[in-house]
Amino acid sequence: MQTDLRNRDLIGDLDFSKEEVETVLDVAFDLKRKRALGEPHAYLRDKVLAMLFFFSSTRTRGSFEAGMAQLGGHAAFIESRTTQISHGDTEKEMGEIFGRYFDGIAIRHVEWGVGNRYLNFVAEASRVPVLNMQCDIYHPFQCLADLMTIIEKKGRDLRRRKIVVSWAYAASYLKPISVPQSLILQMPRFGMDVVLSHPPEFKLMPEIMDQAREQARKYKTSFEVVHDMEEGFKDADVVYAKSWGPLLTTTDATEGKRIQDQYKDWITDARKMALAKDDAIYMHPLPADRDIEVTSEVMDGPNSVVFDQAENRLHAQKAVMALTMR
Ligand code: CP
Repeated sequence: MQTDLRNRDLIGDLDFSKEEVETVLDVAFDLKRKRALGEPHAYLRDKVLAMLFFFSSTRTRGSFEAGMAQLGGHAAFIESRTTQISHGDTEKEMGEIFGRYFDGIAIRHVEWGVGNRYLNFVAEASRVPVLNMQCDIYHPFQCLADLMTIIEKKGRDLRRRKIVVSWAYAASYLKPISVPQSLILQMPRFGMDVVLSHPPEFKLMPEIMDQAREQARKYKTSFEVVHDMEEGFKDADVVYAKSWGPLLTTTDATEGKRIQDQYKDWITDARKMALAKDDAIYMHPLPADRDIEVTSEVMDGPNSVVFDQAENRLHAQKAVMALTMR
């Protein structure tokens, strides 16, 4: 067990080794048990986390803020638009200055081509851990909560279990590609066979695809790409179907929407879920476009684990904060 995670950043999913992720999971399950029993676990008394948001959030903000309070510390909610970032505070200023005020800096910055770069520049200047609350490339805390949820539902031995990471249609906005990218990087390390399913225009980043293939080779799992939602769902143990924008094809929002609107039939419904295993779980990080991206029948149905998934954000994040910020 790798226990020394003090002062480590978590920006990309592979920043922590598999053994370190296992430590995070062990601590997360322990913290979940402690909370269920009402056992105090103030591992971060007097510590303060800066939460810098460049984009809206429900779950991420709520779970980081509640998590810090439950660990005996405090989280400061800071919106970029109410800072002096637009008046000259660079990544260096944010890392240097917030690194001196706070014990950790968590950032959400999903702007394509900008967010991940921003986090890495802040991390270079910061003396405290930088935690990625979602950037344009990765959503590592979502993925840790997802892994925790899959283990709860399917057991620790995930070898020969199939996860389909599928694109789904959404009408609301062009969503980041960070969730599917994090999933295809992390899941092979825990033995899962990964099928990535999307229309041709919704490719993920080539370097992330290469890394996912490399992880699959290293952990002797399979990684396959298909362009048919139904084919992807066949015999899956885990159906993880969500929308993302065609960002590798176009960054123009109007053109992106035009492309996206060609695939309105990529909805997760009961008929498609029936192609997966009988006990397949349905996962989504939320928010979802109800009855567009997924039917309410599936989302509120017996195979859906979306609320357990959302809950596990809290426990997984507390584990990383307790390990990195102590
Ligand atoms: N899943 C997720 O990150 O939710 P929020 O965007 O509400 O934080």
